[in-house]
Amino acid sequence: QPNQFCEAGIGYGESTCGTASSSSSKLLIKGGTVVNAHHQQVADVYIEDGIIVAVNPTIMVGDDVRVIDATGKFVMPGGIDPHTHLEFEFMNTVSVDDFFSGQAAALAGGTTMHIDFVFPTNGNLTAGFEAYEKKAKKSCMDYGFHMAVTKWDETVSREMELMVKEKGINSFKFFLAYKGFAMVNDELLLEGFKKCKSLGALAMVHAENGDAVIEGQRKMIELGITGPEGHALSRPAVVEGEATARAIRLADFVNTPLYVVHVMSIDAMEEVAKARKAGQRVIGEPVVSGLALDESWLWHPDFDTAAKYVMSPPIRKKGHDKALQAALSSGVLQLVGTDHCVFNSTQKASGIDDFRKIPNGVNGLEERMHVVWDIMVESGQISVTDYVRVTSTECARIFNIYPKKGAILPGSDADIIILNPNSSFEITAKSHHSRTDTNIYEGRKGKGKVEVTISGGRVVWENNELKVVPGTGKYIEMPPYSYLFDGIDKKDAIYLNSLQAPVKRAKSTA
Ligand code: URP
Ligand code: ZN
Ligand code: ZN
Ligand code: ZN
Repeated sequence: QPNQFCEAGIGYGESTCGTASSSSSKLLIKGGTVVNAHHQQVADVYIEDGIIVAVNPTIMVGDDVRVIDATGKFVMPGGIDPHTHLEFEFMNTVSVDDFFSGQAAALAGGTTMHIDFVFPTNGNLTAGFEAYEKKAKKSCMDYGFHMAVTKWDETVSREMELMVKEKGINSFKFFLAYKGFAMVNDELLLEGFKKCKSLGALAMVHAENGDAVIEGQRKMIELGITGPEGHALSRPAVVEGEATARAIRLADFVNTPLYVVHVMSIDAMEEVAKARKAGQRVIGEPVVSGLALDESWLWHPDFDTAAKYVMSPPIRKKGHDKALQAALSSGVLQLVGTDHCVFNSTQKASGIDDFRKIPNGVNGLEERMHVVWDIMVESGQISVTDYVRVTSTECARIFNIYPKKGAILPGSDADIIILNPNSSFEITAKSHHSRTDTNIYEGRKGKGKVEVTISGGRVVWENNELKVVPGTGKYIEMPPYSYLFDGIDKKDAIYLNSLQAPVKRAKSTA
């Protein structure tokens, strides 16, 4: 049956449209180097009905099976992006990639699952969840949800429990910035951390000091700095470092695991490093823009060019990028996200006279796998197995869906990419699949290209063509109590035991 979304004119030619039946349900990927986070080997991968059935050096099949030759190429688990905002109502507008266009772009770039952030509707978690369920109906790849918590009362507390026990959500994000929109104070943060711990749900933080941001913005406007560079100048790394340190210490106080989203600076990264060195369960997520770019773009004389780099926390000065790369290769930071949240030039132009009004967000969902391969693997900083770990496996483990996702093992979902290390990629807004009209990686070229993407056992990207079908993506429920919670109760018990017995004091005779 024809694909209405292609006809709707979102930029895919007729030749790139397809239907579910265009792919065989039996597939053999032959002769490639199969890479998992723990091991790589030359092997065949046999897939039936969306599930990996066998991984063996030689698999013989009948002629009803489609065979894809992967000789000389890497066969890897599809990427999982832990951090996206599709069709996100934010800063008086809505991000332009929805659950179809964003996911189509993702598939073209080798990402086969993402986790998006549900925002409560007027503070109501259930209403927010239902709104996102609707938005996600057009999905063409698998997805999961985190949930933002923006206010606190008994209802929110009860609904968090409902989200975990009945809706497949196992993580909650708290914003320490965006005053007046989503920012929470320390009292709420502590309540939220305690609730997360009691549910086995992972607490996540956007770590910038929102009050300091307001003060920094006031200062820039007073100085007459109204352009995009004012965005970086108003919320420097110290503001991110403070909030990261505070969130980490409060999570330690509560003894619950913490996930710091978009670690953009050395300041924040070093707080994560210090806590991990002390044995605390802290996960640090760099995003591609922070690993690959520096803030100089924000000083570009052309407003449209400068404005496309506005995101929060800001992309930092040269040097932070390399330090974040080193932290990723040494294990201080564990997985790479994108924070894909795209606004087109017209939307970005609402801030032409005032950087505070430029909608915050950059692209990355389609580019992540290629850019990370280029800057981390081609540069010799990480192995191919570690590439799989930071782009896929670790995300699946943290959000408790491993090895259904994040692995090429018998029984795992057939979300697979074939990457040719001898082919090359080039990124331009003209050729990308996102709906936005700009690309922060415009003109970037590199070695290593995702030539084939398989989603749920169907070939959806091949010969530079997308064959995506709205409604084929599944919601992936994520159960609580990931490995990060293993031992948390033991640590609590040891702490309680270590407390002194009540001090006996003589009765006062005065
Ligand atoms: O600038 C950004 N990061 N926009 C998306 C919202 C967020 O803070 O993650
Ligand atoms: Zn069509
Ligand atoms: Zn954020
Ligand atoms: Zn985000």
